[in-house]
Amino acid sequence: MPASEVDTETGLLTDSFGRTARDLRVSLTDRCNLRCSYCMPAEGLPWLPDEQTLTDDEVLRLLAVAVERLGVRKLRFTGGEPLLRASLERLVAGAHQLVTHEGRPPEITLTTNGLGLDKRLSGLVAAGLDRVNVSLDSLDRQRYAALTRRDRLPDVLASLRAVEQAGLTPIKVNAVIMREVNTDDIVPLATFALERGYQLRYIEQMPLGPKHSWDRRQMVTAAEILEALGEHFTLTPLDEPRGAAPAELWQVHPTEQTPGGIIGVIASVSAPFCGSCDRTRITSDGQVRNCLFSQVETDLRGLLRRGATDDELALAWRGSHLTKGPGHGIDLPGFHQPDRPMSAIGG
Ligand code: 5AD
Ligand code: SF4
Repeated sequence: MPASEVDTETGLLTDSFGRTARDLRVSLTDRCNLRCSYCMPAEGLPWLPDEQTLTDDEVLRLLAVAVERLGVRKLRFTGGEPLLRASLERLVAGAHQLVTHEGRPPEITLTTNGLGLDKRLSGLVAAGLDRVNVSLDSLDRQRYAALTRRDRLPDVLASLRAVEQAGLTPIKVNAVIMREVNTDDIVPLATFALERGYQLRYIEQMPLGPKHSWDRRQMVTAAEILEALGEHFTLTPLDEPRGAAPAELWQVHPTEQTPGGIIGVIASVSAPFCGSCDRTRITSDGQVRNCLFSQVETDLRGLLRRGATDDELALAWRGSHLTKGPGHGIDLPGFHQPDRPMSAIGG
């Protein structure tokens, strides 16, 4: 449908608090080749059976509904590990053909652990990939191996170099900091990122991993991360409007050893940004989640497979979004962690 014919007044994913989702996170698989301790148990998880996983055509159909009917502008492919989806290039190419309400292709990004990204990057960029976020929680090979339960740090570093050579800027690097695990990495990760011009983003650990693996009192807070950084760097808050971005950005001043740059801190727990959230999610088995922490899902796969029209899919998605809660409520009594783990939701 040409962009001009889309009913942008009523067709948006607007919730009852007036927030409109423009950013869709698409989980392409719940599997992963790492086992980060904050995300998965060592033995992995019971994976979704193939017949429940959306086919490429089903994914592309839902993306078309999201972008061309519902006003989504940004698509982020996630997992598990999205590179484990062999057809990722085809999905990126299909997504790149879509036309937003603004008359452009959607912005297409990938959240990845980076394993094998170097080998697929040129194909992905040719297909229309705009940017990547790479997860990297330690620069110490042993610590990386302990934390992810796989000795793959060199692979991640090779992929980051490839992303740099491909010029996909800004290159964002995500680090989850855990007490007595990788707090010693806070400063080395910053130095590493500043030297290479990457934008490092520290993320507070959220209760989305193995059950009982999260303790609010144990969580390393954004304030603690900033304090550790403050011992080595001078930071000033960037006073650009933050919009719906989860990261609070800081300008790091250059030192004699390290160039300056920008660092982000995502205080998902201690300073939630739910009030400006512009995200919606689909899982690899075709369930809409209006929040990382929602307890209910809307089954678009069932609708799709029963022959629903695009209008019906759009209506169901909007219905789901209308019930989006005001926030995750992690700090409220009565909070419970969603049954579906982060690896099956998509970050
Ligand atoms: N808390 C915070 N961030 C998490 N991620 C995965 N699990 C958690 C968690 N429990 C992050 C990863 C990755 C992105 C997909 O989400 O580090 O960067
Ligand atoms: Fe895999 Fe990402 Fe989970 Fe680590 S955080 S196990 S890389 S899905």
